Amino acid sequence: MERKHNEFITASGLRVSMPVPGIVRVTDGMHKGSYMVSAPTRRTAPKVSGEALTWGKITVEPENGMALFYDGKLLCVDYPGSRRLRTSLSPEEVAQLSSEGHVPSEALAEAGEWKVEVVKTLAPDAVVYGLGDKTGFLNKRHYAYENWNTDDPTPHCDNYKSLYKSINFFMVYSENGCLGILADNSYRTRFDFGKEQEDYYFWSHAGGALDYYMIPGKTPKEVLRRYQSLTGRSMLQQKWVYGFHQSKWSYYTDGEVLGMVSTMRENKLPIDAVHMDIDYMEGFRVFTFNSARFSDPKAMTAKLAEQNVKAITIIDPGVKLDPGYFVYDEGVEQGHFARNPDGSIYEGAVWPGPAVFPDYTQEKTRIWWGEKVKIMTDAGIRGIWNDMNEPANFTGPLPDDVKFSEGNHKEIHNVFGHLMAKATYDGLLKADGRRPFVLTRACCAGSQRYCSGWTGDNHSMWQHLQLSLTQMMNLGLSGMNMVGSDVGGFGSDATPELLVRWFQLGAISPFFRDHYAKGTRNQEAYAFDQATMDGCRKALDLRYHLLPYIYDLAHEDMPILRPLVLEYPEDPVCRELTDQCMLGDRLLAAPVMTPGVSARAVYLPKGVWFDYYTGKRYTGGKYVLAEAPADRMPLFAKAGAVIPVSAGKPQCVEEITRVVLEVFPGNGRYVHTMDDGESMDYLDGGVRRIEIRVQGHQLEQKVIADGYPGPDVLEIRWMA
Ligand code: GLC
Repeated sequence: MERKHNEFITASGLRVSMPVPGIVRVTDGMHKGSYMVSAPTRRTAPKVSGEALTWGKITVEPENGMALFYDGKLLCVDYPGSRRLRTSLSPEEVAQLSSEGHVPSEALAEAGEWKVEVVKTLAPDAVVYGLGDKTGFLNKRHYAYENWNTDDPTPHCDNYKSLYKSINFFMVYSENGCLGILADNSYRTRFDFGKEQEDYYFWSHAGGALDYYMIPGKTPKEVLRRYQSLTGRSMLQQKWVYGFHQSKWSYYTDGEVLGMVSTMRENKLPIDAVHMDIDYMEGFRVFTFNSARFSDPKAMTAKLAEQNVKAITIIDPGVKLDPGYFVYDEGVEQGHFARNPDGSIYEGAVWPGPAVFPDYTQEKTRIWWGEKVKIMTDAGIRGIWNDMNEPANFTGPLPDDVKFSEGNHKEIHNVFGHLMAKATYDGLLKADGRRPFVLTRACCAGSQRYCSGWTGDNHSMWQHLQLSLTQMMNLGLSGMNMVGSDVGGFGSDATPELLVRWFQLGAISPFFRDHYAKGTRNQEAYAFDQATMDGCRKALDLRYHLLPYIYDLAHEDMPILRPLVLEYPEDPVCRELTDQCMLGDRLLAAPVMTPGVSARAVYLPKGVWFDYYTGKRYTGGKYVLAEAPADRMPLFAKAGAVIPVSAGKPQCVEEITRVVLEVFPGNGRYVHTMDDGESMDYLDGGVRRIEIRVQGHQLEQKVIADGYPGPDVLEIRWMA
């Protein structure tokens, strides 16, 4: 092994270093630069003994299968044998599969497409989490996936390998501890977590360099924290963003937008934001408003502001090919669009028909795009919804050789949405100054630095309600905390019962938006019968009740909504639990996700728990049967829990003026954070923090940060 500036080069040419504390990088040295990693890198020197490199608790033996030990326990080692394929396809079968839509991994393998591959030993007891928005349940062991941002509006099922997001991060957790892997490569990537064979997992890239980070820890929580030190933290949003959003494809006129908001207010259905879908534009030209149907957007947003409602507009990347349209003209003149190999501008088609695609890999293009965002903020728009940024194209996938300044489409595809979100984030921050709200459909690892995400075009199906919970949990385990799905379902028609149950899950989802597709049944809560509207209202009231708690969680560096395994990794039941979740570390939710149910089994981990609604006491470590009437989702608080809630019945975040601490007896420590709810000052000490310590039925409050004015003590409500 050769040593150069604290990097160790193996006999086979792999370079091993610790560029960020606690994280080991392995690379072939061919990588040009990273879209995913944001941490400043400074290689730390290890202790070297023989062939072993030791940094604190981490020891790596590069020449011994890149073995990594954490606290003396083996967490990761290259698989000593070679892969043993279980399937082989005839050329006819490959053609058949390809014609059905998805290019099967096997087809690419036969075409020699997979250029870079890493195979690691999979421990018999290991479970696997992460990879963002993938379909299926929580634990990804025994499944295979592909990361290639894909827009697919047909119902997403378990056998889907690719969806909108490509987050090359996963965690393998076993008795020995937890190992996170970030595969830092933007090309099409496949992952197999013991599907091909029980005893190994592997990932392969369709091109580019070998570059991966091994992130060890004792628990998934430790690993997730370290992963965020490498790729960045989910952005704290303005407080209203945690309120309820209503959306539709599309509210056609300003009158319809305002009418929806008034109807919500009249029916006491709390709301903070409305989303304006593609039809607000002039012929689907981005950064324009339809002059007949939205004649005075500024006046409309001012009227919304009187009702404490913010407007968010969709912005797609496809720019209408339309000489005379300023965005197109500027883009052509200034060289902002992706090109064909012959140098001409590549033409695809999206909503406006023939369209061209910005080359967001160029800094000048990101700045130009970001400056356009000011057109929207000048009209009073408060957030930008980036869609179709896989990029989706109605004339078929962009050819591999379409040119961007930093590579061809094959290399850029998976980071296109990420770079669009970055451009939008920077533009919003400059134009508005407040914490930018950017909602994206496509992204990659690290995008959490710039945007929130939603899970794309789901359907009004019970299966998709179930799927949305595991998608949100795995997105959280992949570093994206601010996520949600289209509540009620996007495609197809919601039944009254499905809508209410989905609103209940929405109430605890980090991002809570009802959105539905053109041509499907109206899906605002008031578009249903009285009992359904009442059920939705109850869920909305719960959301606004819990909002101060949710906002506290957003200040943390852990997912707001999390799987139980994050809190109880040592409990084998929690490792597979897909139909329950936790809001923070003390509130456990068991959403109802099947029809006709009025009670459900709830697993309570070890410890003392209280029914959130009745205060009834339970001893955990077992399943209990919880009442789940149509208008209520079972919720349990752990002993010692402190839950800051809103006093009264706020109809929007602005109306949350008083916070009360709900307290469940036991032992616990909690920190409640107050800030101005919109500026970046929180990064600079602009916060007030009250530490609350609970011991049995005793409670103490202490101000531990006073960079923002507020009370020194809060009102207490004992819940049991
Ligand atoms: C895409 C989006 C969806 C949106 C529609 C029209 O399908 O995923 O949310 O409503 O486009 O813009």
